[in-house]
Amino acid sequence: MQIAVNILILLDFQVTMIVKSKDTLRAFLSSQKSIGKTTGFIPTMGALHQGHLSLVERANAECDIVIVSIFVNPTQFNDSKDLDQYPRDLDADVKLLKSFVPESIVFAPSAIELYNGHITAKKFDFGTLGKFMEGKSRPGHFNGMATVVSLLFDCVSAERAYFGEKDFQQLRIIEKLTLNQNRRITIVPCPIARDKCGLALSSRNKQLSYKNQEHASLLFNVLKQSRNAFDIETIEQIRKNVVKVFSEQDNLKLEYFEIADITTLKPTLKKESGKKYRAFIAASLDGIRLIDNLELN
Ligand code: PAJ
Repeated sequence: MQIAVNILILLDFQVTMIVKSKDTLRAFLSSQKSIGKTTGFIPTMGALHQGHLSLVERANAECDIVIVSIFVNPTQFNDSKDLDQYPRDLDADVKLLKSFVPESIVFAPSAIELYNGHITAKKFDFGTLGKFMEGKSRPGHFNGMATVVSLLFDCVSAERAYFGEKDFQQLRIIEKLTLNQNRRITIVPCPIARDKCGLALSSRNKQLSYKNQEHASLLFNVLKQSRNAFDIETIEQIRKNVVKVFSEQDNLKLEYFEIADITTLKPTLKKESGKKYRAFIAASLDGIRLIDNLELN
């Protein structure tokens, strides 16, 4: 009987590649685990691009089974307009993924299914990791994000999960969450994929005109300038330069620019020897919110 169920599940996967039920996914993964297969998991909100695919490629090279979740998580949006505008095209995502890794599996549950009927965020305390930059700009965002990642980890019992440094603060919070919850999953950080102008790839870039995509590469350019200046100038001077560059822009509005040490993610104006720093930036271009970050030393 169990074998027949597994065959049906597998057939379903091969035909649709999309799994919507948690139980189906769990049954499939446990059958695969019992024959020694390893799983790599990439949580996403869809509108897939080369940045996501770079994570998929890494998982495919390191694991037997690749699971990509596609779920636009309502509890991590603190702005309902942003949630409404978020690009959604499951068919296009599946097609792209299938052309890239044909045997990968998409987990696309409904919100009710994933949240067991209660679509609310839990409260977490990540200390300084969640307080500044995105934590300050988007109150509640990290609670919603950590809630959904916990729920996803409960469904997808993977050996490895892949997260991009594009969302560096998110990555550090997931590492802490995994540790706090004693999960036996390895979090694999992946470098930021960029377009030819240096703009960090993002699902939100689809909302930008071609011209604005070029213009948006200013974020990466100021990050690079800050890295070049890091050994010579004070953090205060670097920050002033960035603010000046953005004050000269019409439609590109700076939300924050911070330099933080990578262990606490606490913004600082003082460099200390032996510490590693990263610069973080958020800006909006004609109302589209963009973020980026770069290692400085
Ligand atoms: P999403 O923005 O779809 O990103 C999914 C994963 O892809 C994240 O780990 C993100 O850092 C990574 N990613 C996005 N753009 C990237 C790029 N240009 N280079 C490298 N990696 C990139 O992040 C989320 O979704 C959500 O918060 C999620 C974790 C799925 C929880 O809802």
